Amino acid sequence: MNEKDKVPYVVTSKSYTAVAINCAAKAGEWIKSRLGSVKQLSTKVSSQDLVTEVDKGAEQMIRKLILTHFPDHAILGEESVGPGAEACMKALETAKNEPYLWIIDPVDGTTNYVHGFPFYSVSIALAHHGEVIVGVVYDPSRDELFIAEKGKGAYVHGNPTLVAKETTLSDSLLATGFPLETSFNLPQNMAGLQALLPKVRNVRAGGSAALHMAYVAAGRLNGYWELGLNAWDVAAGALLIQESGGQVTDTAGRPYDLSVRNIVATNGEIHDDLLETLSKAEATGFRKD
Ligand code: IPD
Ligand code: CA
Ligand code: CA
Repeated sequence: MNEKDKVPYVVTSKSYTAVAINCAAKAGEWIKSRLGSVKQLSTKVSSQDLVTEVDKGAEQMIRKLILTHFPDHAILGEESVGPGAEACMKALETAKNEPYLWIIDPVDGTTNYVHGFPFYSVSIALAHHGEVIVGVVYDPSRDELFIAEKGKGAYVHGNPTLVAKETTLSDSLLATGFPLETSFNLPQNMAGLQALLPKVRNVRAGGSAALHMAYVAAGRLNGYWELGLNAWDVAAGALLIQESGGQVTDTAGRPYDLSVRNIVATNGEIHDDLLETLSKAEATGFRKD
């Protein structure tokens, strides 16, 4: 396409996407301004599962803004759900069929945030009857805003994002995350890592599921997998990848929906090979019955 024929991407004011962007940008700026001055560091289910007053404050800020525009919409935010996988699954089950459901992770990568490691993000998705129609991931450290609208593509700072072209695992850079649940998910993830590392270029574990997925969408990573996630970690990222030409399933190869916790997200080209490697290594995070 000719440079002059390119139609600029314009977000309609008051659209759901405009509100998502506004929320992510405002919260992200505030979060960044508090970097290094966290006062209340608490833990959830384990000493590794951190939460701060910044996570809670950012979620409140985003909730208020959304409800100002759309008072009848439902909101599922990480910091408003009790700790542990059971509570998360229950909250999603109750909320997932709402006509309009906003799914928020106010700080994805809290451990990084607390340590000043600049790889964390704000993740906001909007689902319509269970289908994600808007996804926004904002990285305050690099001021990068990733935006996807169902059927309209995905963008970073107005430029379309496109998944990477590599077709083989051996040419691929992957990412994963290390599960907090140590009795089943962690050993499963280790088995996957051991099986994949010799086959790929390398594996990163940056510590923000939402940013890893944005990076798959933008072609900076070829694929990403992780076990034991929640809807707020991946809902926005899943749409970013789908709208950038990639593929998102669970580790058993079933199509992405809001309830997926064990995720595989790739450029599409390496998807089957990644699934097969996890399956052969018995590292899908699903128990054999
Ligand atoms: C976590 C991050 C991390 C991933 C964990 C998530 P949080 O989210 O996305 O990369 O490995 O599974 O829980 O707790 O920082 O919002
Ligand atoms: Ca998260
Ligand atoms: Ca979080």
